[in-house]
Amino acid sequence: MSDAVPASPLFAPLTLPNGAVLSNRLAKAAMEENMADGEHLPGEALRRLYAAWSKGGVGLILSGNVMIDPTALTGPGGVVLDASQPLAPFKAWAQAARSSGNHAWLQLSHPGRQVMKAMGQGAVAPSAIGVQIEGASHLFPSPRALEPEDIATIVERFAAAAAMAEASGFTGVEIHAAHGYLISQFLSPLSNRRADAWGGPLANRARLLLDVVKAVRARVSPGFCVGVKLNSADFQKGGFALEDAVEVVRWLNELPVDLIELSGGSYESPAMAGAPQDGAISPREAYFVDFAREIGAVARMPIMVTGGIRRRAVAEEALKPKDGRPGVAVIGIASALAFEPALPAKWRANVMPEVVIPEIRWKKKVFARLAAMAVVKAQLHRIGAGREPKRNVSPLLALIGSQVGAARRTKRYKAWIARRAA
Ligand SMILES: Cc1cc2nc3c(=O)[nH]c(=O)nc-3n(C[C@H](O)[C@H](O)[C@H](O)COP(=O)(O)O)c2cc1C
Repeated sequence: MSDAVPASPLFAPLTLPNGAVLSNRLAKAAMEENMADGEHLPGEALRRLYAAWSKGGVGLILSGNVMIDPTALTGPGGVVLDASQPLAPFKAWAQAARSSGNHAWLQLSHPGRQVMKAMGQGAVAPSAIGVQIEGASHLFPSPRALEPEDIATIVERFAAAAAMAEASGFTGVEIHAAHGYLISQFLSPLSNRRADAWGGPLANRARLLLDVVKAVRARVSPGFCVGVKLNSADFQKGGFALEDAVEVVRWLNELPVDLIELSGGSYESPAMAGAPQDGAISPREAYFVDFAREIGAVARMPIMVTGGIRRRAVAEEALKPKDGRPGVAVIGIASALAFEPALPAKWRANVMPEVVIPEIRWKKKVFARLAAMAVVKAQLHRIGAGREPKRNVSPLLALIGSQVGAARRTKRYKAWIARRAA
């Protein structure tokens, strides 16, 4: 009897619709790092972090949010890519992120209303409806509803950033249409109450997403990959639902989209962190796999699922068909790769480290969620500084550290944006 362990299907290559090949089925999902330099450019810390993931064996690295508009940042310290930014730092970043031969795509994002008031730039959104989070709504500005000309400018910004990503040596972009950011705000009837061509029926609410995909595609070469991160649902009563996601994917089928990553939720209903407002998913492992299978049944492009995956067996299970529905093609992993950047290489070598993501059970859910993010981000900052991840970071200290850092970076951001305007 042979004692050879059968190869895991996670390490089979995948050819995308445009002919590009991912060397395996594991992707590092987007994690905003807030590690850009004073000019909102990627520097040494980001290069070191991305080189660690590349060395760790993922087939695809998706960057954290890269902001297409300097006046609309999800948070201070975000990377900004627009026509006035130099390409050299992005070229160096792409080189580090691809150093082991994997794909590296930039995630292009516009947060819409999900920006902090402290940044001082106000907010735009499909409609003038603010973010509502118990005990935290006051931290977000009341947004201004976008005019049609503003929408055209935003579409152009996505396309310009994609062209710059390609010129820098990244192999693709992922358009962020999930998590309650601008495109997701357009998709949801809760945040989109427009009465014009971008509001009302789903076909109108999806217009921005479809226009962005078309504009991006028109500006990049056919071998450059274009992906979309979409919510399988918002997990809010009356919000963007699974049936809507299925319909949107049918429309995306008609466009040259290479990969759809499915997640869920928003700041108001953080399902992506396993904590939806309506309690409709089990907050344990692989939160969105059943939804992904449902959507995969109609999708012509490969489907990636992200959320709650930390164990190889769970990842392998998600690749398998179930109840007449297909398996997913790519497994997205975020938090676990902050604690174990070499998880893919370890899994390939049949080494299964136990990845324990600390659970924070504070009564104030908003603070617990912020602390959980801070604990993960602390790992990114450690790796960027050339240190090892540290599992037992105190959530309270991580939260305090992240708030102090955010205040410092917000001040720096305001000085930068004032310099740019001068
Ligand atoms: C610190 C942190 C930052 C994140 N930043 C982003 C981001 O920039 N863009 C995005 O689409 N998702 C972001 N996410 C969500 C992840 O991509 C992912 O959907 C979520 O964490 C669930 O996957 P996981 O259980 O493997 O962490 C972030 C998550 C964490 C923990």
